[in-house]
Amino acid sequence: MPLEPIRVVVTGAAGQIAYSLLYQLAKGDVFGPDQPLYLHLLDIPVMMGVLEGVVMELMDCALPLLLGVVPTADPAEGFKDIDAAFLVGAMPRKEGMERKDLLAANVKIFKVQGQALDQHAKKTVKVLVVGNPANTNALICSKYAPSIPRENFSAMTRLDQNRAQAQLAARFGVGIDNVRNVIIWGNHSSTQYPDARFAVVTKDGGESRVADSAADAAWLQDQFISTVQKRGAAVIAARKMSSAMSAAKAACDHMRDWWLGTTGDKYVSMGVISDGSYNTPKDIIFSFPVLVKDKQWTIVQGLELDAFSVQKLQQTGQELNEEKEEALAVCQD
Ligand code: NAD
Ligand code: LMR
Repeated sequence: MPLEPIRVVVTGAAGQIAYSLLYQLAKGDVFGPDQPLYLHLLDIPVMMGVLEGVVMELMDCALPLLLGVVPTADPAEGFKDIDAAFLVGAMPRKEGMERKDLLAANVKIFKVQGQALDQHAKKTVKVLVVGNPANTNALICSKYAPSIPRENFSAMTRLDQNRAQAQLAARFGVGIDNVRNVIIWGNHSSTQYPDARFAVVTKDGGESRVADSAADAAWLQDQFISTVQKRGAAVIAARKMSSAMSAAKAACDHMRDWWLGTTGDKYVSMGVISDGSYNTPKDIIFSFPVLVKDKQWTIVQGLELDAFSVQKLQQTGQELNEEKEEALAVCQD
């Protein structure tokens, strides 16, 4: 029996990340090779000309799963009957900025889009926020969409996870698939805590915990963490534009695992509403290790935190609380 078509919206559809993302969505990399879909492409009025070109290219890709495209600057049309939302549209940072410097400019976009999701999307919609500052934007979006469960809103820290996994694979001389269970805790910002203490490497038929490698202990606590924390800034310094190809790939990884589920004990990191697990502040969007089954995520419990990790989680949680206060004030203006 053929699958019912789904509707997927991408905001910021005329931008850089979307340009890499749309092809992957339309060819079945995220929702599965048999899942037909309609793509709703939302951007602002001034970008409609550019968007027309993107629509032409999607058509010219001649992809069998893509049943139709709805380009629009109207959030009501963009979010109508939507099953999955990629909220990418927002200003990117420039060299020398922190992501939270974008808060005042971007957070109101997510208030408006939360309201539009609330009114027009399916109540089962899965929302992935990519636009920065992603965690706090996701929180605001959810706040303004009270009829949709809070568990349906997430922020992207998968790019950080992929970066961490790639660093470990290079360090240990193995393929990317031979590294699993590295964790990103907290904010998608320079206070995030990339944690390799539970990461496992498969090599020469055997498995070993990254943390057991005495030779790498100093590298893991120092260079590894700071490389991952600062990778976005390093890409901006080199490209003069923020990451786009790797961000689009990470968005696909995040949504695919949410839609189709994770495998075995292999967990992934997602920014999700905090229930206070691991003594984190409640009611912020905090990145945790999660497992996904039947489109529902659960936070992996029982991982032991040492004193260093406790302090790292506190620091990033505090930043998220501060961002939350600022965002709420901006939205009240
Ligand atoms: P971009 O400037 O190339 O594209 C952004 C697009 O969003 C533009 O086409 C713009 O017109 C559109 N837009 C602006 N306001 C909008 C609105 N209200 N509704 C719909 N569309 C709107 O930027 P980009 O490189 O695609 O990056 C987009 C965002 O993603 C930035 O905030 C960036 O910092 C963030 N980002 C996040 C991650 C992550 O890991 N979470 C990674 C990379 C980039
Ligand atoms: C990234 O991590 O590459 C993005 O969040 C873009 C940025 O501003 O760093």
